[in-house]
Amino acid sequence: CIANMYLYTAQAMREADQRAVALGYPSLVLMEAAGKQAASRLLQHFEGRSIAVLCGKGNNGGDGLVAARWLAHWGHPVRVYADEGHTGDAAIARQALQAHGLEIAPLSAWEPAPHSVLLDALFGTGLRGPLGGFYADLVEKVNQSGLPVVAVDLPSGLPYQPHIRADLTVALAGLKNEHLFYPHRAACGRIVLESIGMPPRALHNPHLPEVLCKTAMRPLLPTRPGNAHKGSVGRVLVAGGYRNYTGAPSLAALGAYRTGAGLVTVAYPADCAISPPPEAVRLPLLEWGHAELQAVRAEAVAVGMGAGAGGVKAALAALQLGKPTVLDADALHKQVLSAYAKAGLPTVLTPHPGEASRLLDIPSEQIARAPLEAAQALAERYPGLVVVLKGGPTVLAWQPPGAPTSSPLLAVNSTGNPHMASGGMGDVLSGVVAALLAAGLSAWEAARLGVYLHGLAGDLARKPGLLAHEVAEALPSAMKRLQL
Ligand code: APR
Repeated sequence: CIANMYLYTAQAMREADQRAVALGYPSLVLMEAAGKQAASRLLQHFEGRSIAVLCGKGNNGGDGLVAARWLAHWGHPVRVYADEGHTGDAAIARQALQAHGLEIAPLSAWEPAPHSVLLDALFGTGLRGPLGGFYADLVEKVNQSGLPVVAVDLPSGLPYQPHIRADLTVALAGLKNEHLFYPHRAACGRIVLESIGMPPRALHNPHLPEVLCKTAMRPLLPTRPGNAHKGSVGRVLVAGGYRNYTGAPSLAALGAYRTGAGLVTVAYPADCAISPPPEAVRLPLLEWGHAELQAVRAEAVAVGMGAGAGGVKAALAALQLGKPTVLDADALHKQVLSAYAKAGLPTVLTPHPGEASRLLDIPSEQIARAPLEAAQALAERYPGLVVVLKGGPTVLAWQPPGAPTSSPLLAVNSTGNPHMASGGMGDVLSGVVAALLAAGLSAWEAARLGVYLHGLAGDLARKPGLLAHEVAEALPSAMKRLQL
């Protein structure tokens, strides 16, 4: 994570480049930094192999020409294959490379050499439309070579077909949509974001989605005063469970405790044999009524986990408490959301694509294809409520109340991994966010930090067959890691 925390489109990155130039920052300096960073990242991961650098005729190719010069300068065996017709900065990069005594072969001369690594600098964000003809054949040849590929900024051909499948992508200056969203993310392999020294004023663009990163999340972590006691650091009420859905509220309680809640009470239907962590207070109920819930001392509520047919009733009873609330799973019904939006309480809803599909009346495939748009649509429909649309990656949207004319704030998570796709993971998240609400964070802060920490815990505990409670157990390490 670097200071820059926006998610760029190709157009937004072009505008950032233009702002840098307008501020007087020479674009050649950016290209020099880009190429040098790409070269050192390649060496970090693939040192010892001979290197073939494939350069297009745009600025991405220019970055590749710079990288090739530095690789040669550092004494590594490099061959350069490039298009003709470079202009501007890329032409200067070509000149500098030739001054170093390197020869440039035509792209058509490249043949896969055993034990080599490729630096793909054919096309970056400037591609307009799918590659065809010679370039499409070249992409196929690269993919079929089986050789490791390091892509400069973006694997060439993205976001269209065909495209290069890279093992490592060095994202320059900022993350682009393709780096975080599937299916394109899969073509990037491992992703590293490199600063290329672009002036922060040029990168700044509050209209873009935020990428949740360490620098922005760290200051949100609640601090614990020396004289803390369990009643002062945030108490959480978890309300859920139904028949044999006994695990969900327990996992939410565990998530809340492991995020630092001082006391967690679990309210559940009395005929539901749940087994919350021994540290939790149990509140079995004959029915979901607000009078029973009111007896619980809590600063925040998480409702709906495993609540089945009782979800709506539980959520409406919880609303009467007037506390910051996380609405999850079976609480996610239109009538519940409308009531919470009307009440104006700090509220976070945590749908997965299936639940979002029901709320928006659009197919879940469409939501999976365009999650940011779906989260935005939900946020616009329920102003004031913070939307956490879970997935790979989880995205967030919030229409701040009182600013109905501006579009919702958007954020995309940068932590988490596919092993987190298993039962109970979302229940833990609800508990995490509720604990942060109880600690006094705003809904937008609690949702962003909660999603980030939950993903970071998942990354720390990452393994095949990862279980939800293991992610909860990794939350303290995730918080420690974030503090450092
Ligand atoms: N088929 C073939 N060539 C194409 C196509 C296409 N469908 N679309 C664009 N081009 C050519 C353009 O004619 C131009 O020569 O690709 C070149 C531009 O590609 P890029 O190098 O990706 O674009 P550019 O804007 O010059 O550079 C952006 O530079 O800042 C660096 O690496 C960073 O990704 C970024 C890149």
